[in-house]
Amino acid sequence: MIFWRIKPLDQILKTAERKSLTRQLGPIQLTLLGIGAVIGTGIFVLTAEAAQKSGPGMILAFIIAAIVCGLAAFAYAELAAMIPVSGSAYTYTYGVMGELVAWIVGWALVLEYAIGATAVCVGWSGYMNGLLMHTDVFGLVAPGALALPEYLRTGVYSGGGFNLLAFLIGIAVTWLLVIGTSKSARVNAVLVAIKIVALTVFVLIAVPAAKSGNLHPFLPGGWGSPMGGAGVLGAAASIFFAYVGFDAVSTAAEETKNPNRNIPIGLIASLVICTIFYLLVGYGAAGSIGAQPMLGANGLPLDTGTSEMAAACVNHAQSLVCSNEPLAHVMRVLGYQEIGNWIGIAAIVALPSVILMMMFGQTRIFFTMSRDGLLPDIFSDIHPRFHTPHVITYATGAVVSICAALFPVGKLADTSNAGTLLAFAMVSIGVLILRKQQPDRPRPFRTPFAWIVCPLAVLGCVLLFANLSIVAKVVFVVWAVIGLVVYRLYGYRRSQLANGNVA
Ligand code: ALA
Repeated sequence: MIFWRIKPLDQILKTAERKSLTRQLGPIQLTLLGIGAVIGTGIFVLTAEAAQKSGPGMILAFIIAAIVCGLAAFAYAELAAMIPVSGSAYTYTYGVMGELVAWIVGWALVLEYAIGATAVCVGWSGYMNGLLMHTDVFGLVAPGALALPEYLRTGVYSGGGFNLLAFLIGIAVTWLLVIGTSKSARVNAVLVAIKIVALTVFVLIAVPAAKSGNLHPFLPGGWGSPMGGAGVLGAAASIFFAYVGFDAVSTAAEETKNPNRNIPIGLIASLVICTIFYLLVGYGAAGSIGAQPMLGANGLPLDTGTSEMAAACVNHAQSLVCSNEPLAHVMRVLGYQEIGNWIGIAAIVALPSVILMMMFGQTRIFFTMSRDGLLPDIFSDIHPRFHTPHVITYATGAVVSICAALFPVGKLADTSNAGTLLAFAMVSIGVLILRKQQPDRPRPFRTPFAWIVCPLAVLGCVLLFANLSIVAKVVFVVWAVIGLVVYRLYGYRRSQLANGNVA
């Protein structure tokens, strides 16, 4: 019975020791890793999407998404400290709920990390295309002379052709990952600093400019719709993407010094810092220039990424909801043209660190699944010189780059969220099962009030999932069915655990 193929936790820890990666990351590097993975397309790009769904009420959406992530972060911290090995939610589930559930979670994490990385590539290309359109390179060329042809600016499923820049950034990040974590982590630290400075400047200008009149009407999209994808809850389900990534810290557990102490610090510190920034940025953006959505004939906000929305934006280019570079846009509307450009440049320079962390998480999860025999051995091959799982990094990079060239950012982010929400819910359930099954196992970090916090985390995940756009929910179900077929045809028979190969 595959539900009962549970891998004993002691065995998981032993296997990790045998085929392990070098332990080189400390608490500050981990927190930076977390912030590097978290602050990205969500706040820099999807703020406009959230505003279109909920108007100024997006501030509530930021709070709701932060609460769900905060609850799940406690659960992640407890399991990551107990089981400090690569693989995150996938590994924890394997040790607690068995192979089938673990496989489903690992498969869903592909959506979280790989599709998440794809969304950030597309978000990055939006800012980069914006810069190429607006810059005159200090007066050396005519503004717009450097812009790419329209069909190379967005993917075929967002009304363009081939998103060239999104494709190229995916390839560049793949190369960084192949040459090694330590180098990439150093680059990441610099990029994190750039993001923090950019958001701080934004907050210092936008928050004092906020006027209460800009926050009315506060909830033009209401709380939500039965089909999801609208209102404050729909915005929360989308903007949840802005918080995703802190769990990437736990995927680096096997490369962390003193993981029992450092993983919980990295997880919680990165989430708290990002939440503070997001609330200030959300309030500053809505309060300073307003955040009213484009309404359809029925008086409700138009769906994002549609031709109706594009048409409505033709005459409202000044609106926050119509911008592909909302934070730079706010600065320009407030009269700070240069600062707007610099915030755009900061996003361009820094978003690749998010892509890097998400692809890093993806490759480490595949690495662990392959080590367990659920994916072919070649996926856990280590590069002789760089000591990184290079084969899986190349494979992930190819998929991310190609998808980034084709699909729109909002739908990619929602799809990524669907996978993440499943993982968060499973980790929260896992904490409770383990508390019952192995109450005496040492827990370097204990979730406070676990029997309240974890069920609330699960409920929060269900609520957000229900409010995702319909496309994301359908893709999620199709992806899960494909995963079950792959498991039945490959992993079910090849599993190291089933074959008694793991000592
Ligand atoms: N949280 C990350 C971002 O917003 C994934 O880009």
